[in-house]
Amino acid sequence: MADAKVLTGAGLRGQVAGQTALCTVGKSGTGLTYCGYDISELADKVQFEEVAYLLAHGELPNSEQLAGYKARLLGMRGLPQALKDVLERIPADAHPMDVLRTGCSMLGNLEPEHSFADADHAIERMIAVFPSILLYWYRFSHDGVRINTETADDSIGAHFLHMLHDKAPSKLHSEVMNTSLILYAEHEFNASTFTARVCASTLSDIHSCVTGAIGSLRGPLHGGANEAAMELIEAMRSADDAEQTLMGMLARKDKIMGFGHAIYKEFDPRNDVIKKWSKKLAEEFGDSRLYDVSVRCEDVMWREKKLFPNADFFHASAYHFMGIPTKLFTPIFVMSRVTGWTAHVKEQRANNRIIRPSADYTGPEPRPVPALSER
Ligand code: COA
Repeated sequence: MADAKVLTGAGLRGQVAGQTALCTVGKSGTGLTYCGYDISELADKVQFEEVAYLLAHGELPNSEQLAGYKARLLGMRGLPQALKDVLERIPADAHPMDVLRTGCSMLGNLEPEHSFADADHAIERMIAVFPSILLYWYRFSHDGVRINTETADDSIGAHFLHMLHDKAPSKLHSEVMNTSLILYAEHEFNASTFTARVCASTLSDIHSCVTGAIGSLRGPLHGGANEAAMELIEAMRSADDAEQTLMGMLARKDKIMGFGHAIYKEFDPRNDVIKKWSKKLAEEFGDSRLYDVSVRCEDVMWREKKLFPNADFFHASAYHFMGIPTKLFTPIFVMSRVTGWTAHVKEQRANNRIIRPSADYTGPEPRPVPALSER
């Protein structure tokens, strides 16, 4: 089991900030559970859509419920014209996380959550349409085409790859996307989820909660780490070069993106799963560099710092082998984590008190306001 660190100090480490029935991190099983199910078993046995349903409703769907759920999601992939118009105005050099943030916010204007009773519908709509928002903008701004976002692909992962590459993906690539989306779906009170819960605690609407969470996930210390990891490994020419580069970075006390974790202390249970897929994809791709480089990074970081790859590190090579541009890595995280965020929003609403901590004051002693002429 991946034990949790004993946490103290800044960043609210070690503070219990609320209750959740959705997830445990570093407490049981291989170290990550969703509603009591171990992540390694979920990654092996179910579809991402089953996990999305589990987080939304607390139980895995039966086959009828799953069929109904998937049919609803499939029917919600289309974009309103007003949203397409907005996406077409966003420049190609915008960061896709900013595109998703704007897309989510615009959706909240066009299809607002009028009451909390609309939450389930709004959640399903976001899960279904985020890949469409992302790829419509990406393909329009980069390739000059207005894609049809209403594919008939059976899964969200396949739908994403289909829109990106203009063809239905292979079985292997669909499976990897499925697993990846499962691994990223939920992670207790991480920064973006906490952002969503803080927003929900003011009784705000669900699009505001998710828009804020996207902004929080964007940072390189959180979701942005998979992109930063890719930038790091793609510049490494060989495993030996990786070793040399990392030793230099560690000597300079640089942060190595994709390593370490705020809660796990010895390994991230998601890494084992995605690492296996990355290896398979490397074989299919005919790669003899990126995977080896990644493994050497893992060895060096453990040997030198006792730091281990988190979920993001081997995701970088896995996504790359599937032809996914680096700047779309973190948005895939959004496509998945929206399920966790929105489940937390519902949970917060169900037992709410506004989240409002206090601060230790470190500013000047009380003092009179001087006249403008005296300053
Ligand atoms: N590279 C180099 N050193 C690292 C490191 C990394 N990726 N992660 C942690 N460390 C160092 C810290 O600088 C700290 O050193 P210090 O004691 O000399 O200051 C020490 O290891 C302990 O750090 P820790 O308390 O475990 O980290 P944290 O809880 O403050 O931060 C992360 C956790 C995830 C933010 C941090 O590990 C990190 O920045 N990782 C890289 C970004 C990343 O991959 N994020 C995705 C998370 S899923």
